[in-house]
Amino acid sequence: MGMREQIETAAARYPDRRSAIMPALLIAQKAHGHLPGPVLEEVADILGVERIWVYELATFYTLFHTEPVGRFHLQLCDNIACMLCGAERLLAHMETVLGIGKGGTTPDGLFTLSTVECLGACEMAPVMQVGDDYHGNLDAARLDALLGSLRAHAGRLATVDPASAPSPGE
Ligand code: FES
Repeated sequence: MGMREQIETAAARYPDRRSAIMPALLIAQKAHGHLPGPVLEEVADILGVERIWVYELATFYTLFHTEPVGRFHLQLCDNIACMLCGAERLLAHMETVLGIGKGGTTPDGLFTLSTVECLGACEMAPVMQVGDDYHGNLDAARLDALLGSLRAHAGRLATVDPASAPSPGE
């Protein structure tokens, strides 16, 4: 199902199409990787809502990316519980290990580093979200292991022979 059809399906669940902007943005972001202006306008046009409403939500929530992000988006919570459990040290550690600052992307396009507000998982602070996964009770050693496994995962995907991969529709 294409993006338009998915958005139409999502919109059908709401009495007001404006209420479907958030799920529509998630669908569009999954389809395009991020949400540049033309994609935001397409979402607004599909829903038949004001473009400014779509822009407002896309630029307010950190889960939406109007700029390209790396293959793995490292979103470290720096809110109060995580901060008290060492989030600042972990951020500094990742900045050193990855050689980028907050908001930056590694030159190989693998990692983008961000800080976000409370992820709602304070019981396992400090917490970082990577894609759809949460990683909690982090310390420098666990972070290094996580970054290593993400690099290895990316390497494994890169070595898959395209000729042996199933073709679309199979
Ligand atoms: S403060 Fe970090 S998850 Fe709540």
